[in-house]
Amino acid sequence: MREDFAANLVSGLLEARTGQQLTRDRHWRIETALAGLMREQGIENADQLARRLLQPGQEALAEAVVEALLNNETYFFRDRPLFDQLSQKILPALAARRGDTRRLAIWSAGCSTGQEALSLAMIFAEQRMRWAGWTIEIVATDVSRSAIASARKGAYSQFQVQRGLGVQQMLTCFEEAREGWRVDPALHRAVRFEVHNVLDPAPRPGRFDLVLCRNVLLYFDSTTRGRALDRIGDALADDGFLMLGGGESPAAHSNRFVTCRANTNFFQHAPSRAATAPGKDSIPIRPSLSANSLKSNLSTFR
Ligand SMILES: C[S@@+](CC[C@H](N)C(=O)[O-])C[C@H]1O[C@@H](n2cnc3c(N)ncnc32)[C@H](O)[C@@H]1O
Repeated sequence: MREDFAANLVSGLLEARTGQQLTRDRHWRIETALAGLMREQGIENADQLARRLLQPGQEALAEAVVEALLNNETYFFRDRPLFDQLSQKILPALAARRGDTRRLAIWSAGCSTGQEALSLAMIFAEQRMRWAGWTIEIVATDVSRSAIASARKGAYSQFQVQRGLGVQQMLTCFEEAREGWRVDPALHRAVRFEVHNVLDPAPRPGRFDLVLCRNVLLYFDSTTRGRALDRIGDALADDGFLMLGGGESPAAHSNRFVTCRANTNFFQHAPSRAATAPGKDSIPIRPSLSANSLKSNLSTFR
């Protein structure tokens, strides 16, 4: 059995289960990503790995291979300027649009170990006064079982909490624990974490005012990006917002979305679908609230 057969087998497995593509020029990643797992399993080389995977009853190994190949890179408030835009322009626009029901449903798709969704929860805690009396549902999903298991624990290492959070914010939202830093229980309870593939129909409640799908589409081919964007489009409210990662765009993969004027990296349904045309950004940028006010506002979720 040849090495490239093993690489094709493994990348085929990854693609079948997650849609993520490991193109030939990135096959080198397989060896690095699987080195630890192979050592653990006493597997000496790619050839042996492929033979094991082809045997019946190797589901646990197959799942571990897929998990090891997924890129779970994330951190709190990744691309901070976009979170500022979200907090200061997009959320106020949604608040105006949902003033009648006072409900917001938000989906963080491909949330990895939860930092993105918890960053959102922190924003709502910071803005407690604005959101008093509102029901905010944050659903965070990932295809990776281990990432979701970790998010559900709500414990982060020193390195993880230092990435993206200022010292004050870190001390406000986390407490030191045996396993590292434990997120404030009220913030953690504000997010529902679920295993879910973004290529499947959206999770409950099925209709979202805001969807974040950041740094997930990168490793899909164009057709698969279109499929994922279709799923998201089906679940996004007519006047809702889609937030992608810095530099990501649905253009070329889907014609269902248009860029929000003055809010790059945020998208809305193309006019044929949207009930409300993408509005001009009329809400001025306000400075973020201080960490102290965040502390006193954590009770939003209590
Ligand atoms: C690079 S991380 C990005 C995490 C976070 N969104 C951020 O931007 O910081 C990409 C995540 O997408 C997840 N992912 C990959 N394919 C997926 C799929 N088909 N459905 C759901 N999640 C997927 C991976 O497991 C990984 O946790």
